[in-house]
Amino acid sequence: MRTFREDFLWGGATAANQFEGAWNLDGKGDSVSDHFTNGTVDRPKEVTVKLEDDKFYPSREAIDFYHRYKEDIALFAEMGFKCFRFSIAWTRIFPTGMESEPNEAGLKFYENVIDECRKHNIEPLITISHYELPYALVEKYNGWAGRELVDYYFNYCKTIFDRYKGKVKYWLTFNEINSGTMPMGSVLSLGTIKGYSGPINKVPDDPAVRFQALHHQFVASAKAVKYAHDNYPEYKIGDMNIFATMYPYTCNPDDIIEWQKDNRMKNWFCSDVQVRGEYPSYSERYFEENGITIKKEAGDDEILKEGTVDFYTFSYYMSNCVSTDPEVNATSGGNLIGGVKNPYLKASDWGWQIDPKGLRISLNEIYGRYQIPLMVVENGLGAKDVIEEDGSIHDSYRIDYLRQHIAEMKEAVKDGVDLMGYTPWGCIDLVSASTGEMTKRYGFIYVEKYDDGTGSLARRKKDSFDWYKKVISTNGEDLA
Ligand code: BG6
Repeated sequence: MRTFREDFLWGGATAANQFEGAWNLDGKGDSVSDHFTNGTVDRPKEVTVKLEDDKFYPSREAIDFYHRYKEDIALFAEMGFKCFRFSIAWTRIFPTGMESEPNEAGLKFYENVIDECRKHNIEPLITISHYELPYALVEKYNGWAGRELVDYYFNYCKTIFDRYKGKVKYWLTFNEINSGTMPMGSVLSLGTIKGYSGPINKVPDDPAVRFQALHHQFVASAKAVKYAHDNYPEYKIGDMNIFATMYPYTCNPDDIIEWQKDNRMKNWFCSDVQVRGEYPSYSERYFEENGITIKKEAGDDEILKEGTVDFYTFSYYMSNCVSTDPEVNATSGGNLIGGVKNPYLKASDWGWQIDPKGLRISLNEIYGRYQIPLMVVENGLGAKDVIEEDGSIHDSYRIDYLRQHIAEMKEAVKDGVDLMGYTPWGCIDLVSASTGEMTKRYGFIYVEKYDDGTGSLARRKKDSFDWYKKVISTNGEDLA
């Protein structure tokens, strides 16, 4: 029976804006995420055009990985990490995104991080853009709505590909690129929020702008992939999607049709372009019905074909259901990305429905569609942790969540899926992307940092630390 590969990439995942801090040090410019205030599960965080003195911006200090990377990477190594996923903040390399020369201090910082990983035999997996677009590009071009960003992004990719040659093998072009198929993508990944201040869930939505911006990301990603393949054949470049498993709420054919439409545009559309190299035929009807006309330039179709990715990666946290029944829709509001609650599942304190079997189903569906290697680059439970009097943290709920998901990954491998690795999210506690809180913790390592910005920043091991160490050392055999 198949099991996890010998070279399975066990590790953990992070993103610069959620854990580095040092938001304005050593020449760094401000990114969209530096304009986010904090929120809670009931009060959405805000984005502000100006940085206001009376507001709290959690990315500013975050957990200060910038100054503590050696200590943190040593802890990852102690757990036995084979791989560490982190992102490069574009604004450390090009503070406004538009400079022609990179900022050496930014390049050097990531070189140090990469070297530190290598010292511990940890393979870096680098996300090139993870929800941290230079804010200057929002002000000048309305973010990715501007075609100009294709060249700026390409120059950024070329700079880091050239600089880190021989030290990095795995790259992801855009975090959760398919967030751009949903309104939340305007603020998180596309930066089409010029002049907007207010709650992030109230950003005015224009699907025509959103999908045009997404087209620019597709072209930019494909140009980067082609450059990497032409110049560094050893580089492997992946796409990265939120895979939000969906089920029809009932077997009523109307529900199935609605589910199919939703599932295609949210879960498959972006990867169909990035893996297969062309817009899928079903998108034509969606565009027509939603007043979307994609403006393409000569050569765009060719570059999409030439710049297809080598492996498919995704985040997996939850699933939801699709219903055509207005009453069900009105009374059973679902997860972060909408949909209807599944009566067979429980949810986290933040309302994300927990569905380990959904991961097995998704892995099979994705592999069946593309037949390229897959990697789960985010997964985990955001939960409140308590420090006991003796300093220990008993996070059995997190262990349960991860155990069940790893067990289902193993089933998927037995089903024939080619799975490269697993990097659970927030391997060290960091700032939540959706709410800006610290309270929503994912880590194996607790960080003494709290929602109001206080805390010593000291690191402590949770029970899950030793558990995950054992999982890695047995290559996923011992999940007890
Ligand atoms: C993914 C993002 O959507 O989910 C991460 O890529 C994010 O940036 C993670 O942190 C978990 O979401 P949250 O809102 O709990 O931090």
